[in-house]
Amino acid sequence: MTQQIQSASDEAVRERVESLLAEMTVAEKAGQLTQYFYMGFMRDQAKDGAPSQPEMVEAAMTRSGVGSLLFLMDPAEINRLQRMTIEGNRLGIPALVGFDVIHGFRTVLPVPLAMAASWDPAVIEQGQAVAGREARAVGIHWAFSPMVDIARDPRWGRIIEGAGEDPYLGGKVAAAQVRGFQGSDLSSPDNVIAGPKHFAGYGAALGGRDYDESNISDAELWNIYFPPFKAAIDAGAANIMSAYMDLNGVPAAGNRWLLTEVLRDSLGFEGFVVSDAQAVHDLFTHHFAADLADAGARALNAGNDMEMTFVDPAFDHLVAAVEDGRVSIETLDTSVRRVLTAKVRLGLFENPYVDEARAAEVLVDPAHRQVAKTAAQRSAVLLRNEGELLPLAADELSSVAVIGPLADSPRDTLGPWIFDYDLAETVTILDGIKARAGEGIDVQYAPGIRPAFRTFPSMFDAWPNNTPEDPADFDDDAELAKAVELARASDVAVLVAGEWQNMIGEGASRSSLELPGRQLELIQAVVATGTPVVLLVMNGRPLDLRWPAENVPAILDIWYPGSQGGKAVAALLFGDDSPGGKLPFTWPRTGGQVPIIYNYTRSHKPNDQWRRDWDEESTPLYAFGHGLSYGSFSYSAPTLSSESIAVGETLTVSVTVTNEGSRAADEVVQLYIHQRYGTSSRPVRELKGFQRVPVEAGASATVEFTLGPDELSYWSAVTRDWVQDATTFDLGVGGDSTVALSTQFTVTA
Ligand code: NOJ
Repeated sequence: MTQQIQSASDEAVRERVESLLAEMTVAEKAGQLTQYFYMGFMRDQAKDGAPSQPEMVEAAMTRSGVGSLLFLMDPAEINRLQRMTIEGNRLGIPALVGFDVIHGFRTVLPVPLAMAASWDPAVIEQGQAVAGREARAVGIHWAFSPMVDIARDPRWGRIIEGAGEDPYLGGKVAAAQVRGFQGSDLSSPDNVIAGPKHFAGYGAALGGRDYDESNISDAELWNIYFPPFKAAIDAGAANIMSAYMDLNGVPAAGNRWLLTEVLRDSLGFEGFVVSDAQAVHDLFTHHFAADLADAGARALNAGNDMEMTFVDPAFDHLVAAVEDGRVSIETLDTSVRRVLTAKVRLGLFENPYVDEARAAEVLVDPAHRQVAKTAAQRSAVLLRNEGELLPLAADELSSVAVIGPLADSPRDTLGPWIFDYDLAETVTILDGIKARAGEGIDVQYAPGIRPAFRTFPSMFDAWPNNTPEDPADFDDDAELAKAVELARASDVAVLVAGEWQNMIGEGASRSSLELPGRQLELIQAVVATGTPVVLLVMNGRPLDLRWPAENVPAILDIWYPGSQGGKAVAALLFGDDSPGGKLPFTWPRTGGQVPIIYNYTRSHKPNDQWRRDWDEESTPLYAFGHGLSYGSFSYSAPTLSSESIAVGETLTVSVTVTNEGSRAADEVVQLYIHQRYGTSSRPVRELKGFQRVPVEAGASATVEFTLGPDELSYWSAVTRDWVQDATTFDLGVGGDSTVALSTQFTVTA
């Protein structure tokens, strides 16, 4: 179902937009299509009498107006700039204020990949509703989020911002986030516009190297990369951000096929498209546009409505382009209409300013902290639990060693892509364990090693706290020995290892998946003491855990769990709640295996029978969908409402899942199908349904799924269109993507 923005009340929006448009000069129209970073701290950095960056933006406000501002987070400053914008332009049109609200604003939620690992659309929606509420309270109207790029190569640092490798899960996660941000009414003081990004194919960067080109077949685009965007658009997303890279040789921001034929004509998008930062300028960098003027004209003609930029918008040249006919006035008007529609729908003309006192209250709402804690609990994935080491029995423990520099690092607990956090209120893993353990258990901490550092700097180094501090007077050998001694003397060791938050995210691709620094050595030394070890992995991509996966009894993936992370993790460790998350990607054994995905197609000497590599298994370390809990689940054979349906019909699948264990836990029940033959060959298995269900010890739950044309059709390179074949399907329902597909049904013509 595509969004309907032509409903009755939208008639008023349309009239308002048309009456403004009728008043506007071409220069004012071009002004509405520019979005500027506003870098207040650069005011003192002007050189040679030229205006500084913020002065340049302020001049644009009074010249012909600006459409939007970004990277502002202080409500007083936002009000000040909004006033300047409104008073600066003849028609008093306010600015849209955009920001990277990726996983929370002041309250920090687990990183997006972690949220996806919850397989819980309700908690994902709630999380982004909190983020949107805080952002709107300070005067932000638009989140550059969710990132819905499918990522199949974990060397790409931005895998952390998305929902992993699967289009079906990705679609459900994308839609939940859009619902959370936008709610049902954009003019509400709690909602913001969602801007799914980066359209499209950014996650397929060559070699996982950020910003590099993507070459993706049409079948993969339609079946893998576009579906999460489609889901976000169907959920009502009012904005889309175009991507940086070349897609099949054409830069996304100047790609008319992508931004108009696919996005508008096929996917039904009716909102406005913004470029990524400087991406219209980049049309020149790509050796695609002849100059800035050509870049602006080609981006707009392709369907890129707004330009995001630091300086000198290419869209300043649109006035000349309209004069010399390179851009038609109709094209310009269409884009301006889309931007003004967003402003009217947000109610910006009526309520352009925010109440700063209210903002201060909203940012510390305790209910938001509770949502963050629940989200962190639900996103953790229990990868291994030999001998049921977890949960820890508090009444049988007298001492816990907490080890590793990440265990006590508030900044790393939060993860990347956040700016308005509060380190003082962030609960680290050490804080959380201490608080939960209480008086009776002696909790001692040793870092063991110094933090690890990037070989090359990060683009966020100018932001405070981005790089971990290198402790002075740190005697490496003595500290390692201290940590080992502490572990030896304790009943259990909880070791935190992973990547520092500046090692993952934008501009944070890497060539290997190894644990950085001396972390593996630390793990090995602690395990050698014989004290039982729980490894907590802090990460936003799979890491090479081959040794721990064989030698550390319990491994819990906690991701970057956010501001309430320590509380959530402690509750899981001590069994107040059970982990229930599942992996949203296939976890490779080693970097050399990537990309490795669960939904590959079978070919000559299938790799379930004939190994692909002579030096490594063909299988991953952990399968897509894997995750244990403190329960123990068995599944009934699936029952089908019918073993044969005609093309276009639906059937239901139901399965009963029983918790044979002694503790209540959630199970994510997953449905996979495989098409045996047809117009194209199809993957060995594809996720087509899931549901996270709580099941008490000894109890059962019955889960039902529907399979119809949406699940059984695909885009075929043979017909160059969607097809649903008359064929036979295998089907299986279980707790991860290795479930046997032992049930069949047929589809007849
Ligand atoms: C570049 C990133 O690619 C994009 O995701 C982000 O929203 C913009 N910068 C603005 O910060």
